Amino acid sequence: MEPFKIKSVESIPFTTREQRQTALEAAGRNVFNIPAGLITIDLLTDSGTSAMSDRQWAALMLGDESYAGSRNYFRFEETIRRITGYEHVIPTHQGRVAENLLFTALVRSGDCVPNNIHFDTTRANVEHNGGEAVDCVIDDAYDPVKDVPFKGDMDIAKLDRVLTRVGKDRIPLVLLTITNNSGGGQPVSLDNARQVSAWCRAHGIPFFYDACRFAENAYFNKLRGALDIPIPDLARQFFDLADGCTMSAKKDGLVNIGGFVALNDDRLSARITNMLILIEGFPTYGGLAGRDLEAIAQGLDEVLDEQYLAHRIAQVREFGERLQREGVPIVLPVGGHAVYLDARRFLPHIPQEQFPAQALTCALYLEGGIRGVEIGGLMFASEGKWPELELVRLAVPRRVYTASHLEYVADVCGRIYRERDTIRGLRITYEAPVLRHFTARLEPISS
Ligand code: F0G
Repeated sequence: MEPFKIKSVESIPFTTREQRQTALEAAGRNVFNIPAGLITIDLLTDSGTSAMSDRQWAALMLGDESYAGSRNYFRFEETIRRITGYEHVIPTHQGRVAENLLFTALVRSGDCVPNNIHFDTTRANVEHNGGEAVDCVIDDAYDPVKDVPFKGDMDIAKLDRVLTRVGKDRIPLVLLTITNNSGGGQPVSLDNARQVSAWCRAHGIPFFYDACRFAENAYFNKLRGALDIPIPDLARQFFDLADGCTMSAKKDGLVNIGGFVALNDDRLSARITNMLILIEGFPTYGGLAGRDLEAIAQGLDEVLDEQYLAHRIAQVREFGERLQREGVPIVLPVGGHAVYLDARRFLPHIPQEQFPAQALTCALYLEGGIRGVEIGGLMFASEGKWPELELVRLAVPRRVYTASHLEYVADVCGRIYRERDTIRGLRITYEAPVLRHFTARLEPISS
């Protein structure tokens, strides 16, 4: 059961099928264009959508909005130092700014940055600095039905190949995303993190985590790796292996906005801080209000609570199991923050060029007012190259929905699955030159 009780509630909107049909057409069959007021269950993202605890709301009232030296910064810094062990703590308003700052300081044109799988903003920030973002995850990550415990692991042989191709002077850092969002929220094992760390040390290359979901990753290690170590200690064992991390606190920070870079290198920290002042703000607030820093510090302590994590991970897994009982094809094993529907197997009659995952996203909205996100051809196809996987991500916000909400979603998915032959493919009527999935418009292909 939920390890919390509910003190404040928010009504969710209910709509008629006619309203949803009209909204979907007005949105050009792109659920990013549908107002949240017309969404019944919103599984678009787990980012910035968490419910804060009573203690976090109370923390907001402790906001010290001094421009410099806010007391909230010192609690923020103390908490992150205690959890990660890293010396320098640089606040940012969200994760991608942390990435931007780190890569601006480290990545030069022609450099190569390996990661298990780059999240899209991470990739974009590497490329923005003229770098090449290379995914080096193990091959199993690309098999949607292979049930292995640590599908987020880095393939060290792939790192070796990058090294042979570009040389160590062209690798300014290695990243490891925990958990691996773009590969299905799959965890990275402590053993694998040790290997990546040893590899980086051997070649004198800095090693950083993209630590958005570090607590969920630690819990998976306890669960699937049978490691009988308290979660904060396990998380710390990961951090001890690296030189620093970037983090979007909108995930495992349990807040609606915020992020940071944390690292040990004094000179690199000074360079990042100078840039921070230019684009975010003074080093003790970095684009956030003092109260936000206080809420993040509180959230980071709450997220390491084992009761919380046990429920969180079980809730997402049980959601996946319910979908499987409905016959719905999903990616296995179920990851930490989302269940992914496999649109290729769900809608085998729709060829990839007709965006089956987007068609399924629309069906979810039309049938049940549910918003997921397409992760397939609409998001990733470029210059005639199509991605291997065609998925719909149903991300579960933290502490927001109960078992019965997710049961409703599984029922709707089951209903759509039984009627799947009626779903038609889509064609694009408008697309922007970059990141087209946010604004594209589509129409059904008449058969
Ligand atoms: N890295 C990872 C692994 C992420 O999942 C995200 C965001 C970011 C970096 C960027 O953080 O949004 O605070 O700037 N992921 C969200 C998602 C948007 O829906 O998966 P941000």
